[in-house]
Amino acid sequence: MKIKSITLFMLFAITTMNAQTKSHLDKTKTTEERIDLLMKQMTLEEKVGQMNQYNGFWEVTGPAPKGGTAELKYEHLKKGWVGSMLTVRGVEQVRAVQKIAVEQTRLGIPLIIGFDVIHGYKTLSPIPLAEAASWDLEAIKKSAQVAASEASASGINWTFGPMVDISRDARWGRVMEGAGEDPFLGSKIAEARVKGFQGDKREDLLKDNTIAACAKHFAAYGFAESGKEYNTVDIGNATLYNTVLPPFKAAKDAGVRTFMNSFNILNGIPATGNSFLQRDILKGKWNFDGFVISDWASIREMINHGFAQDGKEASQKAVDAGSDMDMESYLYVNELVSLVNEGKVDIKKVDDAVRRILRVKFELGLFDDPFKYCDKKREKEVIGSKANNDAVLDMARKSIVLLKNERKLLPLKKSGQKIALIGSLANDKTSPLGSWRIASDDNTAVSVLEGMQQYKGNQLVFEKGADLTVGKTTFVDELVFNTTDKSGFEAAKNIAKTADVVVMVLGEHGFQSGEGRSRTSLDLPGVQQELLEEIYKVNPNIVLVLNNGRPLALPWASEKIPAIVEAWHLGTQSGNAIAQVLYGDYNPSGKLPMSFPRNIGQCPIYYNFHNTGRPTNADKNVFWSHYTDVEKTPQFPFGFGLSYTSFEYKNLSLDKSSYKKEEKVKVSVELTNSGDFDGKEVVQLYIRDVAASLSRPVKELKGFELVELKKGETKLVTFTLSNDELGFYDNDGNYLVEPGTFKVMVGGNSDIGLESIFELK
Ligand code: NOJ
Repeated sequence: MKIKSITLFMLFAITTMNAQTKSHLDKTKTTEERIDLLMKQMTLEEKVGQMNQYNGFWEVTGPAPKGGTAELKYEHLKKGWVGSMLTVRGVEQVRAVQKIAVEQTRLGIPLIIGFDVIHGYKTLSPIPLAEAASWDLEAIKKSAQVAASEASASGINWTFGPMVDISRDARWGRVMEGAGEDPFLGSKIAEARVKGFQGDKREDLLKDNTIAACAKHFAAYGFAESGKEYNTVDIGNATLYNTVLPPFKAAKDAGVRTFMNSFNILNGIPATGNSFLQRDILKGKWNFDGFVISDWASIREMINHGFAQDGKEASQKAVDAGSDMDMESYLYVNELVSLVNEGKVDIKKVDDAVRRILRVKFELGLFDDPFKYCDKKREKEVIGSKANNDAVLDMARKSIVLLKNERKLLPLKKSGQKIALIGSLANDKTSPLGSWRIASDDNTAVSVLEGMQQYKGNQLVFEKGADLTVGKTTFVDELVFNTTDKSGFEAAKNIAKTADVVVMVLGEHGFQSGEGRSRTSLDLPGVQQELLEEIYKVNPNIVLVLNNGRPLALPWASEKIPAIVEAWHLGTQSGNAIAQVLYGDYNPSGKLPMSFPRNIGQCPIYYNFHNTGRPTNADKNVFWSHYTDVEKTPQFPFGFGLSYTSFEYKNLSLDKSSYKKEEKVKVSVELTNSGDFDGKEVVQLYIRDVAASLSRPVKELKGFELVELKKGETKLVTFTLSNDELGFYDNDGNYLVEPGTFKVMVGGNSDIGLESIFELK
C-alpha cells in the first residue's frame, strides 16, 4: 500500500512537472505570458545559463568532445548552462548542438545561434562600406535578405550585424564593415540592413528565412584614437549624441532585436560596463526590449582596462551596466550565481536579462520549432543559388565608384583593342571576398581576369607584375607583403608597351582591412606603387582599378592616372561586376561614403566638420586653419562619384523663404542628364544651421535620392525637410530645433552644389 502510494505520488509529480515544463510551449499565450511561465520554472543556474554564450566546437556531430574547453562547453550545454552558441554552422552542426539543448537539458530551452553574417554568408556581397557607396537602400536591404536567407538555411538564426559604427578615420581597419562617416546615410543604411535581415515587422522573425540582427558596437568603437584597433575613445557629448548614436537609434527604431557592446572605453568607462549607454540610453530612453551581447571576451577585458579587479568584479559591473549575455568570457557562468547568492548582484537584473534573451528566442519561433532552420533540403537549394549570385552581382555593380575618367578612357571599346591587364589582384579569386567571410571558401570569387575574359572582342593579355603578399593570407594571421620581388615587372612592361589600354588592379588584400587591421599608411602596399609608376612610363593609358577596404591616399595616382575605378572588395561576383562597368554594360553611379584623404596626416578627415574661427586665408598669412604642406581638402570628397554620362543641376528652389517650426520645408531642383549615356545620379541635399546654441557642422547631409535618367531627360527632384532633419542634440541629449537662418545645398557631392537659404521662425 505504502509502495503503491509513493509510486502514485511520483507519477503525479512527474506529470505535474511535465505539464509545468511544457506550459510555455502553449502558442495561444502571449510571448510575455510564455516568458513568465518559463521563468517560474528556472533555477538560478539555468537563468545564468541563458546569459552565457560559447563559441562553437566542431566535434558535436561525432563523439562527445574530450579534453579542454570543448569538453567543458559540452558539459555546460548538457546542464542547460549555455543559452547561445556562435560560429556553429551548417544544418548538421546546428542540429547537433540544438538537440543537446532541447533534448538533454531539464527545461529544453533552445539555443540562439549567432554568426558574423556581415556581407553575405557563402555567396558574398561587397563589403558593407562598398555597399554604402551605392546609396541604394533597396539594394542594400536586398543584400541583407540574401545573406539572411543563406545563413538561415544553414542553421543560423542571429547575425552580428549590421555594424553601424560611424568612423572618420581610414586608419581603422573596421571602416570596411560600416557605412562610412555620415550619421544620416549611416542611419538609413542601418534601417535597410536591419529590415533586410529581420523583415519589416517583428512577426517576420517567425519566418524561416529571416534572422535576428544585432546593432554593433555600442558605442563609439569607430572613434578609436589614432585609428588603432580597440583603442581608447574620448569624445564629447556633441559627437556622441549627434554622430555616434543616431544610426544605433535608427536600428532600434527599425526593430533590431539585439545590440552588441564594444571593446573600447568611452570617456574612461568600458562600453561593456557602461550603464549610461546601456541602461540610461538604450534600455531607458530608447525603451529597447531586446538584449545586449558583450563583444568577444569584452567582460573579461575590463580587467585589462583597469576597470575591474578580477573576473567577479567584471561580471558584477557588466550585469549592473546591462550587458545581458557574455560572449566567451566564461565569467557569467562562473561568477554570477555566487554574486547573486552573496547579494552583490540583484536577481532582478538577472531576471531582466533572461527575459530579454527568452523574448527574442520566442520571437524567432525557436520554442515552437527548435529545428526550423535545420532543413537539409533548403540548405542545398538556397546556398549559392543562381538567384543569390545574381543579387550580389547587382549589388557589386552598384557599389563601384568612378573616381576619374579623363580622355574618355572608359568605357573600354569592345573590339579591336589590345588590353593589358596587370596586377596580382586581377587574378585573385580570394581577396575580393573581403574580410568577413568565414562561411565562404577560398578561390570562389570571380576574378577581374575571368570577368574580362567574357568580353571576347578584344585581345586580353595578363601579367601579374608582382605578388602582393608572401605567405599565408587568413582571417587571423598578420599579412606579410612582398616588398622586394620585382622580377615580374619586365614581363608586365612588355605587355603594357604594345597595349591600347592598360588595366591595373591594385590595392589592399581582402584581409588587409577588418578587425585588427589598422594601418599607419594609406598607400598601395608592397611594390605596387613602383609597378604603377614603371608601367606608366611605358604606357600612360592606364585604368586603375582599386581594391580596398578603406579610403586610400594616392596623391601620385590621383594626379597622373587618367582613369580610376574604386572597386573595393566586391564579393563573389567581383570580376563580373568590374568587367561590366569597365566595358560600359553598367554605368557606374556609386558615391563615396567616406572622404578620401590626400595623405594620412589629414586623418581623421570628414565633410561635416565644424568651422574654426579662422576657416579661410583672409589676411594672406599663416594664421588660418590649414596645413603648410598639403591642401586641407580631401582628394575625393564624401558623396563624390562620376558617371559615364554627366548631370546638370538647375533651379534650386524652396516653396517659401520663411517657415514656422511645425511647417515642412519643400526643396526642389531640376536634374538633367546632359551626357551621352543613360545613367543614375545620387542627388544630395545638405543643410547648415548657420548660428545655433551649439556650433553646427558646415554641412550635414539631410536627404538624398537615387535618380535614374535617360540621356537628355530632365526630372524635378523634391525633398522635404521637417523638424527631424533641422534639429540637433545638445550636450545633455535633448533634441533642439532652433529658429534662425538655414542654408540648403543640393548637388552631386558634398563639395559642390546650388545654394539657397531660409528662415525658421
Ligand atoms: C569580435 C568583433 O568585434 C565582433 O564584431 C564580432 O561579432 C565578434 N568578434 C564575434 O565574432
